Amino acid sequence: MELKKVAEGKTKIVYEYSSSYYLLRFKDSITAGDGARKDEMSGKGTLNARTSAVFFKLLEENSIKTHFVGVYDDNTLIVKRLKMIPVEVVLRNIATGSIVKRLPIKEGEVFDPPIVEFFLKDDLRHDPLLNYSHLRYFKLLTKEEAERIEEVMMKVNVVMRKFLEEKGLILYDFKLEFGKDENGELIIGDEITLDSMRVRDKDNRIYDKDLYRRGEALEVVRKAYEDFLNIISR
Ligand code: C5P
Repeated sequence: MELKKVAEGKTKIVYEYSSSYYLLRFKDSITAGDGARKDEMSGKGTLNARTSAVFFKLLEENSIKTHFVGVYDDNTLIVKRLKMIPVEVVLRNIATGSIVKRLPIKEGEVFDPPIVEFFLKDDLRHDPLLNYSHLRYFKLLTKEEAERIEEVMMKVNVVMRKFLEEKGLILYDFKLEFGKDENGELIIGDEITLDSMRVRDKDNRIYDKDLYRRGEALEVVRKAYEDFLNIISR
């Protein structure tokens, strides 16, 4: 069956599937610097589809709504059709990455409570930070919706942190994207993978895309993604 493409991004393709579902196919591409650097890492699509499925199932088991319906094939998920909001929502437990460059915060500072940030999905402008006024001005989210999303982020954090902690892993930060279903309800879409979160173990081994961002060999990155999937699948 020839699948009709709905959208294609740097690392995933969305296809039509049925009147209520899409297919979400994970590519082998890995990118950094808003697409400035790009490589093909064979097997990555499968690793990220499987990793996403583990986390979406975990959230669903904890009564958090996601677009996950099921697994279609090795690198493809069946997902609910959503109208995606072009905003990246980041929750940070421990300071690293863009926040230590943007603000007078030191690498490794612990945020209690965690910090939640909204960014516009706009590679050309390097995903600028948004406040509630910006979100309203661009008709992306009302203040109430933004606050609801912050609550969901906190709940997701509690569930994912506990799950990872039990496996000896520390969740530094993660990014989620939200969409609306046909009833206008906010639902978690996109992916939950090592491309979109930062995870280290107690010995400070990095498992996530920071390895690629720091210029590690693709073989090292793939090994970390594989090891992580094995750990969370146990
Ligand atoms: O780069 P920054 O520190 O803002 O990233 C915060 C979190 O959001 C990290 O887990 C990173 O992997 C994720 N992220 C993402 N997509 C982006 C930017 C950041 O998934 N475009």
